[in-house]
This record gives sequence, C-alpha cells and structure tokens, in this order.
Amino acid sequence: MEITKGIKVFITGAASGIGRSTAIAIAGLGGRLFLTDRNAPGLEETAELARKAGGEVCKLKVMDVSDYEAVKSFADEIHDSFGPLDILMNIAGIALFALPEDMTPAHWKKVIDVNLFGPIHAIQCFLPEMIRAKEGHVVNVASLAGLIGLPWHGAYSASKAGLVRLSEVLRVDLKQHHIGITVVCPGAVETPLKQTVEILGVDMTRPDFQEVKNRFSQHAVSPEKVADQILRAIRKNKFLVITSLDVRFFYYCKHHHPLIYHYVLNYISNLMNSGRYPKP
Ligand SMILES: NC(=O)c1ccc[n+]([C@@H]2O[C@H](COP(=O)([O-])OP(=O)(O)OC[C@H]3O[C@@H](n4cnc5c(N)ncnc54)[C@H](O)[C@@H]3O)[C@@H](O)[C@H]2O)c1
Repeated sequence: MEITKGIKVFITGAASGIGRSTAIAIAGLGGRLFLTDRNAPGLEETAELARKAGGEVCKLKVMDVSDYEAVKSFADEIHDSFGPLDILMNIAGIALFALPEDMTPAHWKKVIDVNLFGPIHAIQCFLPEMIRAKEGHVVNVASLAGLIGLPWHGAYSASKAGLVRLSEVLRVDLKQHHIGITVVCPGAVETPLKQTVEILGVDMTRPDFQEVKNRFSQHAVSPEKVADQILRAIRKNKFLVITSLDVRFFYYCKHHHPLIYHYVLNYISNLMNSGRYPKP
C-alpha cells in the first residue's frame, strides 16, 4: 500500500531501536502516529523526534503489550477518535537466551507473553476494524530465530517462529480483505536490545563478554536500514523481509544445503557450550 500523508500507523516498541526508527521514517512521510511502549521517557523522546521529522503524533501510550486489557482499551480510544488503522506494526520484543536446563517456566512465559502474545493482542484488538475498512497492512517483527533453530534460543525462537507462522496464516486469511502482511526477520541490528538482552548461565560482566558484543556490532545493520526495508515491503506488499545477507545465506542453507546448516549450528553450539563463557 502507498504510504501517504495522514496515513494512520500504530507502532509497538516505539521507544527505541527499530520501532523508533520506523516511527521517524513514517513521520517523515507525514504519517499520523499512535505510539506505544513500556518505556515512558524513550516514548516521549521518539514522539519529539517524530514531530520534528514532520509527523503528527496523535496518541502516545505507556503500556505493556502482554496486558490484553491495556491493548484493548488503547485500541478502543484510537477507534473512537480516529477510526480504523491503516498500518499495524508489532515491533516490541525482548530477548532472553539460555539452555533449557537454566530456564524456569517463568522465563518461558515472559518471552512468549511479550514476543508472541503482544502481537496477538494487537491483532485481536485492531484487525476487526481494519477488516471492516477493507484495507491496510500488518507488520510483525520476528527474527532470524523465527526461521532457524539457533542454540540457546529456545524460548525466543518459539516466540518468533510462532509469529512467523501466524503471519503466514494471516497472509492467506487477510487476502480476501485486501490487507497485506509483512514479517520481518532481522539478524543483528545495532539497537539497545544489545544491552537489555538477558543471557542465563553466562557471566555477562566478564571483560571478554564485551568482545562478543563488539563482534555482534561488526556485522549488525542499523535500525534506520531496517525501517527503510519495512517501508519498502509495505509499498510492495512483500511478505518476508530478511534484513541482512548472512541471514539470507543461513536460511538458504537450511532449505538447500542442510549439511552445511547443521554443521554451522553445531559449531555455534559447541562454541557456546565450550565454557568459553563460564557459568557464574
Ligand atoms: N536488535 C536485534 O539484533 C534484533 C534481531 C532480531 C529481531 N529483533 C526484534 O526486533 C524488535 C525490536 O527490537 P530492537 O532491536 O529495536 O530492540 P529495542 O530494545 O531497542 O526495542 C524494543 C522495544 O520494545 C519495548 N518493549 C519490550 N517489552 C515490552 C512490553 N512488554 N510492552 C511494551 N513494550 C515493550 C522496549 O521497551 C523497547 O523500546 C524486537 O521484537 C526484537 O525481538 C531485534
């Protein structure tokens, strides 16, 4: 769909990273924004940047996407004053990596609640109005981990693979309503997620852990680049967006060169389990 002046766009995870960059990019095109995040100061900052970029920030809401009632009440507020959304973007997410034996049920629940139920809640609350309007676009930001089974990514992969599969189903279900869908599967993106990621069973205060973060940054793309790819996908109604070449290669190997795929996964697993990053 075309992204024209006045287009109504709802974005979760708007306080930083990919959510913020996408909000600013839409603002630059004169979009009307409905922004939400659980991080209040970050959300205010994004709103300020979006206004400076030329957008209209219609509503800001500090809320937790895993709280269905909060999402529903914000959706009602938006629908009452502005009618149906044009674009719904599920970008909020958290990262928690661990071996299964180091995780409690609470860890699994936290990741699934935010990364999978967050988007489900927004879809549940906003989609019926979009369907009545018979147009629109949904963007779900998943991950490389939604496409392949990376070691230590059990809960994160389960949440993101669920989001990828849900998007595949919506692609078929929403066609009759003229609503497009894009699922975004980034590899490394240089965002504050690098600081907030929880890795269980690893001493993240060790100086050599900084080395791991530096390596991540070396092949990470910018959130602005991802925002640009998202906007392009909406315009072309492109379903799958893979944000970097390494991810594309990995995904290709999974389907066409399974031996290489499994070799690389086992190599990564051995590296991670080798004690190089010892348990505290
Ligand atoms: N950065 C990466 O390397 C990378 C790679 C693959 C996928 N992703 C995905 O991209 C999305 C955006 O992440 P980012 O890299 O911009 O990170 P980020 O931490 O900069 O942004 C995530 C935002 O989501 C918000 N958030 C987290 N939990 C929330 C909740 N329960 N309710 C409301 N808001 C909540 C955070 O406050 C934050 O502002 C996430 O879904 C993430 O899983 C990121």
